[in-house]
Amino acid sequence: MTTDILERPSLSQRLKQETESEHLRMHRLMEHGAPFSSRPAYASFVAAQYLFQRDVEHLFNDPAVRSAVPDLDMRGRQEAALADLRDLDQPAPQDVIASEGVAMPEALGWLYVSEGSTLGAAFLFKEAKANLGLSAEFGARNLAAYPEGRAIVWRRFVAALDSEALDSSQHDAIIAGANAAYARFGQLLTRYFGQP
Ligand code: HEM
Repeated sequence: MTTDILERPSLSQRLKQETESEHLRMHRLMEHGAPFSSRPAYASFVAAQYLFQRDVEHLFNDPAVRSAVPDLDMRGRQEAALADLRDLDQPAPQDVIASEGVAMPEALGWLYVSEGSTLGAAFLFKEAKANLGLSAEFGARNLAAYPEGRAIVWRRFVAALDSEALDSSQHDAIIAGANAAYARFGQLLTRYFGQP
């Protein structure tokens, strides 16, 4: 019995494993879009990021989400993406909120995709600086680390995911939410950059 419990993967492990193909698909879409090849291409990436962050932050209003992730107020990059668009002289794109009607537990899967993407963003941030001359104060705020640092903030999110307060009967729905969030970001990248 005890062994059974010990061997069961945590929610964070399941999310990583079971959405891996979607993460790889994002790599392929990003490679195809080559957002660091020019400022106009990068501005398209920021527009996709802005719309996705808007979808994610829409979920912050739900009290059940707030209680599952107590430090929500310091998360999210919608404002940063909007400021980057202004730096790049681009208007804010208009779209429906794709996460309308999403609630706990699926909402946590959306947050997972957004928060996890702050890790890969470390690499993207370097490219934005080196190739396009952008920074955490101009144009690349949406890729910059949170003030506390990427790893600490990520570990705290993983602790919320793996908290015992979250019943394991909710895990499948959270993974479905993560897949829906990846589908949305994939759709946005395809809208701006086309299919590979
Ligand atoms: C070319 C673009 C990308 C690169 C190079 C990249 C790279 C990475 C890397 C290296 C990690 C692992 C970091 C670590 O464990 O310390 C990671 C994690 C992650 N990335 Fe990406 N990423 C990219 C795009 C994206 C996009 C577009 C999304 C979602 C919108 C995304 C979502 C995630 C998630 C959710 C994780 C956490 C995985 C986990 O540990 O559970 N990534 N990424």
